[in-house]
Amino acid sequence: MYGIIGGSGLEKLAELQHKEAQSIHTPYGDPSEPIQLGELAGQRIAFLSRHGADHLLAPHEINYRANLWALKHIGVTHVIGIAAVGGIGKTLAPGTLCVADQIIDYTYGRAHTYSVGEKQSVNHIDFTQPYCTALRQQMITAAQQQKIAIQTQGVYGVTQGPRLETAAEIQRIRRDGCDLVGMTGMPEAALARELDLCYANISLVVNWAAGLSEGPITMADITNHLATGMQTMLQLVTACIQDNA
Ligand code: HPA
Repeated sequence: MYGIIGGSGLEKLAELQHKEAQSIHTPYGDPSEPIQLGELAGQRIAFLSRHGADHLLAPHEINYRANLWALKHIGVTHVIGIAAVGGIGKTLAPGTLCVADQIIDYTYGRAHTYSVGEKQSVNHIDFTQPYCTALRQQMITAAQQQKIAIQTQGVYGVTQGPRLETAAEIQRIRRDGCDLVGMTGMPEAALARELDLCYANISLVVNWAAGLSEGPITMADITNHLATGMQTMLQLVTACIQDNA
């Protein structure tokens, strides 16, 4: 079963049919909200809003461990992590969709592994390729079939937030090789791998990263890009799920 983790701009999935909410309590605490089970494109899927239904959880407050554990617990095998990000690479202008293929993690202080406590053996996951290749390819194929323009690779730099970056931080992150910058890609991807979930990211660029545009980054611009871009995102994700049922 597919699971969708919705990011900013996709806190609810109105298209979900016959939905029922399941409150799941995990050994790591509660997920961001009850998981919504229902049908999308005729397929049974699970939906979870990462920041909670009312977007009250900041990126560092999200219980990533509970979210992934709960999705696995209800039978999810494939997780599509949707995110709104800033664009760094020249081709990643606001409005662009990107299926990231790599990660650089700048976050700190987040509960980032299930390998804790005396009774747990340490799980050194292979994270060379942080995203599930098969699921990335499914999304790329769906985009081609739907004639939706996407970037098929990109390095996602994950910052701590909740503030946006300084111009100098973005220059540093760019020199490191990042194409996108967001705040929620980690530890989500690593926890999914620890749980053996097939996890991939698809990001919508909603602003030029700090210092890369003339004016300041405004919430009004971000909101505009979220409103239009998330519709296309949903079309792509729906097609992906339908094609790979
Ligand atoms: N930086 C970090 N996270 C983001 C940004 C950004 O510019 N835009 C949306 N999420």
